[in-house]
Amino acid sequence: MNPVRNLPKNNKKRSKRPKISNGVKILAIETSCDETAISILNVRHSVFNILSNVVSSQVKIHAKWGGIVPSLAKREHLKNLPLVLKKALKQAGFKSSNYLISNSPNIDLIAVVNGPGLEPALWTGINFAKELAKEWNKPLIAINHMEGHLFSVFLPKDREILNLKSQISKTQFPIIALLVSGGHTELVLVKDWLKYKILGQTRDDAAGEAFDKVAKMLGLGYPGGPAISQLASNYRGSTSIIFPRPMINTKDYDFSFSGLKTAVLYKTKELAKLTPKTKSALCAEFQQAVIDVLVSKTLRAAKEYKAKTIIMAGGVSANEELRKQFQEVANRCDRKHMLLFPEIKFTGDNAAMVALAAYFRRTNKKEFANIRTLKADGNLRIS
Ligand code: KG4
Ligand code: ZN
Repeated sequence: MNPVRNLPKNNKKRSKRPKISNGVKILAIETSCDETAISILNVRHSVFNILSNVVSSQVKIHAKWGGIVPSLAKREHLKNLPLVLKKALKQAGFKSSNYLISNSPNIDLIAVVNGPGLEPALWTGINFAKELAKEWNKPLIAINHMEGHLFSVFLPKDREILNLKSQISKTQFPIIALLVSGGHTELVLVKDWLKYKILGQTRDDAAGEAFDKVAKMLGLGYPGGPAISQLASNYRGSTSIIFPRPMINTKDYDFSFSGLKTAVLYKTKELAKLTPKTKSALCAEFQQAVIDVLVSKTLRAAKEYKAKTIIMAGGVSANEELRKQFQEVANRCDRKHMLLFPEIKFTGDNAAMVALAAYFRRTNKKEFANIRTLKADGNLRIS
């Protein structure tokens, strides 16, 4: 992997090493939003091998509606889950495609995301996971989607192999994690492996949601993040357009992006005619406002909590300008932090991140889910 790194000088204070168990195969399922994803991971002698990572995106279907339609997401997950499973098993080298009848593959654990997200979508994954757990007689573990994003920074790039021991020994606590997705914006203090405290979150729209809504206003389609960042990067020169940086100076660690979105709306009305140049200027200034708030609040939290590591993950962390400026501002800080971003291919929703989180939970907490009582929780908090 190639996260941006600045190793802090003082590395005396290490966290307790999490336990590493050998010879575990985990099948993970992710259906919290508009991606149907299944991944199979093998951990042997502390080497983590992604045997398969299949993501079936519904973006084209939802794009017609300008955003995610929960009933369509549910329908598509139901249709895709058996196909994605078949593909994931095949990619991982399992012979039998007759998976639901009797042939239980050599899997030790089934992991599934139980929240946060769209409940109708979450339920499809949960019910599918329960069915597999029953058929195959395997234990089930429930994983928080945002915890999955947090672990995505440890997923490897090319060879699909990660040496957990070396990665773990490099990670220093406390960590400040900025989790920025389409549904959530959270600033989390990670005191040690699997120990979280939410310091702040959005009071209204999530950062990704603001990108999506502004893109819709400007007729740029769904999802909005990539389209806005593309137009913003085309913009050259200075602009008289200035948007607010909401809550940038408040003492708490909460966010609010709804007012910023409204400011863009008023500006588009005021400008009446939107030329390609003004559209680019609007995108550049909107993106800069989001970046300023995210970077400033994260680094303030890192300072207050004396963080040794900063993580940024989730769909919005794919934004190149955000990554670049995060790095630049972090470099100017007195305190040096290790900065971890996921590989671009793991910024969006995927099940490999869920499997890695599941591996840590299984080995260190042994919190298995009850197959009869496990439920979807659209507002599940990381804890
Ligand atoms: O984590 P994610 O894939 O799904 C959720 O859990 O919501 O995040 C999706 C969000 C969308 O709002 C999308 O517009 C945003 O991530 N996104 C971006 C970029 N790529 C995706 N936002 C800003 N810049 C990007 N390059
Ligand atoms: Zn996500």
